[in-house]
Amino acid sequence: MTDVLRLGVNIDHVATVRNARGSGYPDPVRAALLAAQAGADGITAHLREDRRHITDDDIARLVAELTVPLNLEMAATDEMLGIALRHRPHAVCIVPEKREERTTEGGLDAAGRFDLLAPMVERLAANGSRVSLFIEPEARQIDAAVRLGAPVVELHTGLYCELAGEAQVAELRRIADAAALAAKNGIEVHAGHGLTFDNVTPIAAIPQVRELNIGHFLIGEAIFDGLGAVVQRMRALMDEAR
Ligand code: PXP
Repeated sequence: MTDVLRLGVNIDHVATVRNARGSGYPDPVRAALLAAQAGADGITAHLREDRRHITDDDIARLVAELTVPLNLEMAATDEMLGIALRHRPHAVCIVPEKREERTTEGGLDAAGRFDLLAPMVERLAANGSRVSLFIEPEARQIDAAVRLGAPVVELHTGLYCELAGEAQVAELRRIADAAALAAKNGIEVHAGHGLTFDNVTPIAAIPQVRELNIGHFLIGEAIFDGLGAVVQRMRALMDEAR
């Protein structure tokens, strides 16, 4: 048994369903509280520039009502930096963001955007938030995270989740190697994107990975089994993998 693996539940898509009708329900904050009660160790929410799911008010309510840590995902913009500095969430995960994309495609180019990110990482850290960089599992990006002084990286598992067979095994190896390299450099490793009951086990078994952030699948599956039950099942699968 290695160190316990934390589960961060991303509640963005509860807000997607709410916003589809412009109603007040389903309430993502209610989902967050329920997920925490069912065993989530933290809650993740992505405040996108176009506010397509999570809103500013949702973030304010999450900060006020959650008793587990909040991980705010955001693009590296001045507007988002101001919001993060004001709310001071436990963690801030900096992600790349394109308006046209359906979900976060690819990792942050921490190496290429070093000069933009350096003051941002410094200000967020000085303000008391743990900064995480959502990156591809590549040595070049981990090296940039080290130079930026980011305490955490979240490795993008999207490609691993899309592949099958030998190609998936090769991508898993790339993620495991990146996790080992980051941990060797003193960086805490998280992972996420596209994870489901069927593909989570090999990622959860990587010993250096300390947290998984999972959203879309859990919220979708909750339609059939209820959010509490699916969070508990994901927790159990993660625990069994360690
Ligand atoms: N981690 C990060 C940084 C993300 O941007 C997302 C998607 O919002 C996730 C994890 C969760 O991905 P999924 O919704 O596919 O589980």
